[in-house]
Amino acid sequence: MTAVVVRATPESVPQLVASATSLFAEDGGQRDPWMDVTWPRREGPGYYTDLVRGNDSLCLLAYPAADSTTAIGHLTGRIRQADPLRPAAVVGVLESMRVDASHRGVGVGTALAEEFFAWARQSGANQVSVTAYSANESAVSFYRGLGFTPFELTLHAPIGRSPDQPR
Ligand SMILES: CC(C)(COP(=O)(O)OP(=O)(O)OC[C@H]1O[C@@H](n2cnc3c(N)ncnc32)[C@H](O)[C@@H]1OP(=O)(O)O)[C@@H](O)C(=O)NCCC(=O)NCCS
Repeated sequence: MTAVVVRATPESVPQLVASATSLFAEDGGQRDPWMDVTWPRREGPGYYTDLVRGNDSLCLLAYPAADSTTAIGHLTGRIRQADPLRPAAVVGVLESMRVDASHRGVGVGTALAEEFFAWARQSGANQVSVTAYSANESAVSFYRGLGFTPFELTLHAPIGRSPDQPR
């Protein structure tokens, strides 16, 4: 399937918010007991409006056809601020992406990612990075297929109450 991938505009921010809300529910909400799945609805309109308007950020929406009005996926990314420890590295960060379950496995995610790679290159990036839950095996397979390989590993250990315990 050839999806139509376009830059999001301030008017299409509600579509970004809707897709991010579904992503939080499906991904972080299932894998991180501390995740606030209400964040996109609460803070998303302001956050994504800033991202859409930013010079160093990218917000994409995928549609099944040019005349469609309902997005079937999104991707957001940004160019990371220079890191004094890695002064020559310019990193394009793939911050978030999702494709509607009914449109997965037919190339929509790849179309979004390729647009992100082109934008990151044009923006001067020489690396791209993405963070995924290690339990999200399908996303990790998807990213590996695009050429990403594991680089750093973040380890967590509980040292206090769990989120379902009373304070
Ligand atoms: C990850 C995701 C964005 C991929 O989008 P997609 O449109 O399904 O991806 P594509 O159709 O372009 O798949 C390209 C390749 O990725 C790999 N891939 C995609 N889904 C996969 C899965 N469920 N299991 C294993 N590999 C998978 C395959 O290698 C596929 O290549 P193929 O066409 O030769 O089979 C989508 O599955 C999704 O939205 N998942 C839920 C949200 C999520 O986890 N987002 C990422 C958070 S970090």
